Amino acid sequence: MRVLITGGAGYIGSHTVLHVLGAGHDVEVVDDLRNSTASIMPRLEDLSGRSIPLHVLDLCDRDATDRLITEGNFDAVIHFAGLKAVGESVAQPLDYYDNNLNSTISLLRAMGRHGVRHLVFSSSATVYGDTALPPFQEKLPTSATNPYGWTKVMIEQILRDVAVADPSWRIALLRYFNPVGAHESGQIGEDPQGTPNNLMPYLAQVAVGRRERLAVYGNDYPTVDGTGMRDYIHVMDLAAGHVAALQALGRLEESVHTWNLGTGKPTSVLQMVAAFSRAVGRDLPYEVVARRPGDIAESYADPHLANVELNWRARRSVDEMCADTWRWQSLNPDGYPDA
Ligand code: NAD
Ligand code: UD1
Repeated sequence: MRVLITGGAGYIGSHTVLHVLGAGHDVEVVDDLRNSTASIMPRLEDLSGRSIPLHVLDLCDRDATDRLITEGNFDAVIHFAGLKAVGESVAQPLDYYDNNLNSTISLLRAMGRHGVRHLVFSSSATVYGDTALPPFQEKLPTSATNPYGWTKVMIEQILRDVAVADPSWRIALLRYFNPVGAHESGQIGEDPQGTPNNLMPYLAQVAVGRRERLAVYGNDYPTVDGTGMRDYIHVMDLAAGHVAALQALGRLEESVHTWNLGTGKPTSVLQMVAAFSRAVGRDLPYEVVARRPGDIAESYADPHLANVELNWRARRSVDEMCADTWRWQSLNPDGYPDA
């Protein structure tokens, strides 16, 4: 297949580029580099031994997107491009609705016009909101607690509606739990701009000396040790899930499928600090502070559906997630060089 990967210069997209190439497909990347850098591309080409065209354009630009799809002759699209910071989405909701919805609509129009109807979409466990208790199953009603999450709920609905209007679409809604880790080479990984919002990149920056200590957001949750529990999934397992979904779309009868991509096993913040300390070989400093508003005690997947229907499962352990994150961060203490 010829596969277009939107947001392919970003964290999850770049790891997926390698997996899709490894499965024998051709890949082109489109990214406007608003949250990434072109300096990742030579690394992806070195790791894969393949040339990977990068189209630098904003998917909200309908004419440019239409040209890209017209000229690309693609069989399928994996759509990662979007803004993803929860706190920023609360402060700047219109930026989130504008970019995440319009880029997707522009892409769908171009795909529909040129007969490209296989799409894998990056959704999130955030669509389970804060009403149900884990393990989360795909059939639960969706909701959100912030504008970022609402963009995912809304895009899922848009995609279901598009498939009702034209059942020849084949669409996978992949709900990721907490992606962490890095490619085993240490050449690519997560490189957040500014202060990291999420646990793993923050811990990695503490380990490499860029931050003094981790702030643990609350130790009075009803969990094993009082800290929040999440379903961390190695980004390479997540990438493999995209290849499995892409291949399944070709053989499945129904137009739209929703799959959780998670391990089904939750890990607490303190368990993660201990695992990362083992990877680094020394205890990492932390202090317990107040809860972060909006956090839930526990989130983890029921991954049964993806295990059965995609013949896929997450295989890598929390220790591998930490070892691979640490290899990336210690080899690249300041992330990617500027392009
Ligand atoms: P990322 O920011 O590293 O990658 C997204 C990429 O999209 C960036 O390279 C950015 O430059 C690009 N982009 C954004 N808007 C664009 C536009 N209008 N046109 C062209 N390119 C654009 O993020 P990520 O962590 O790799 O996440 C990828 C996807 O997975 C996102 O849709 C995100 O919401 C979703 N997701 C991420 C997580 C997570 O924890 N990282 C969890 C669940 C879902
Ligand atoms: C984040 C997103 C969520 C997204 C999910 C998937 C936020 C607020 N939410 O949630 O929308 O679907 O990732 O990747 O960003 N923690 C600390 N100290 C820190 C950072 C985090 O103690 O400095 C704790 C949190 O309280 C939580 C756990 O670590 O218990 C994981 O936090 P984080 O990595 O931010 O992920 P989520 O909260 O699951």
